[in-house]
Amino acid sequence: EYPEGFEKVQKSIQGGDLFFTILMNPNPCQDPRHQAILPPTLNCTNMTLPNLLILGPQKTGSTALANFLTLHPNVSQNSPIPGSFEEVQFFGGANYLKGIDWYLSNFQNASIIFEKSATYFDNPVAPKQASSLIPNTKLVVILQNPTQRAYSWFQHLLAHKDPSALTAASFSEILEENPPETLRKIRQRCISGGRYVHHLGKWLEHFSLAQIMFIDADELRDEPARVLTALAKWLDLPDFPFETHLRYSPSKGFHCRLIEGKTKCLGESKGRKYPKMSDVEREKLDKIFGLDNSALYKFLRKNRLKIPNWLEESVRIRA
Ligand code: A3P
Repeated sequence: EYPEGFEKVQKSIQGGDLFFTILMNPNPCQDPRHQAILPPTLNCTNMTLPNLLILGPQKTGSTALANFLTLHPNVSQNSPIPGSFEEVQFFGGANYLKGIDWYLSNFQNASIIFEKSATYFDNPVAPKQASSLIPNTKLVVILQNPTQRAYSWFQHLLAHKDPSALTAASFSEILEENPPETLRKIRQRCISGGRYVHHLGKWLEHFSLAQIMFIDADELRDEPARVLTALAKWLDLPDFPFETHLRYSPSKGFHCRLIEGKTKCLGESKGRKYPKMSDVEREKLDKIFGLDNSALYKFLRKNRLKIPNWLEESVRIRA
């Protein structure tokens, strides 16, 4: 017997059947029966739920996007959460069990209330849980060349001295079709987030395409003010001169916030310095993502959405 709001789901993971329970937290204010028994801490007339989720995936520039978006006076982000890179990581994660009260406690009112959790995009449960609580939210997905994203993720693991990553003789070893057992999970983590259409399919089961904005990661890196201006327009926010608050820092190699004439860049873990990927590694990754990239290209074309240069290039090389 499952109480109301619980669902039993059967998932087939790598051949083995796994049963697990998805706890659904629907918005209690949309159901009079729930409203009648709400604790006094939940106020339905003034509920500060996000109306924008930045889904990531990880290593696409999502922190820069979130950080720059908060420059806008009508925007508020969640208060930083210790222990999870400041991210709320509510949907599809352990924090979901803390419930709506906890989720709400992280937000302050504004025209746009948002959270960026880079764990959401490739999480199989997050789309359903998010649509259950905030069905009208807008979503942002950043399209980064998955080859570059995978390499950046591997560098992230090395920087964090991930014990498995440190056992790899090289990045190439991880990219082999059948890497040693210890490297399989890393391979999966490097690759998963870059399989855009596969994961988008899950989001589109619960949200309409009109609710999603796609951002080209290269444009975000090179022209953040232009990207932020377009995002603010899509969010119906008043105009804001992002360009006067952002400045390229030659030493960082990225744009940073400009505060009282000085650049304030993101921390060391964002925009790391590491050696370039070798041609062999790049070719292996391009091959791994070949079909995914073609599917993304077709998806964007079919829906008359802008195709990033890196994707045009990748599809042209494959043809
Ligand atoms: P690298 O550190 O590998 O270069 P995320 O925040 O989604 O995890 O993404 C991190 C990546 O954002 C960085 O990966 C970097 O390339 C990219 N990025 C884009 N704009 C940036 C900026 N203004 N400052 C720092 N990193 C930025």
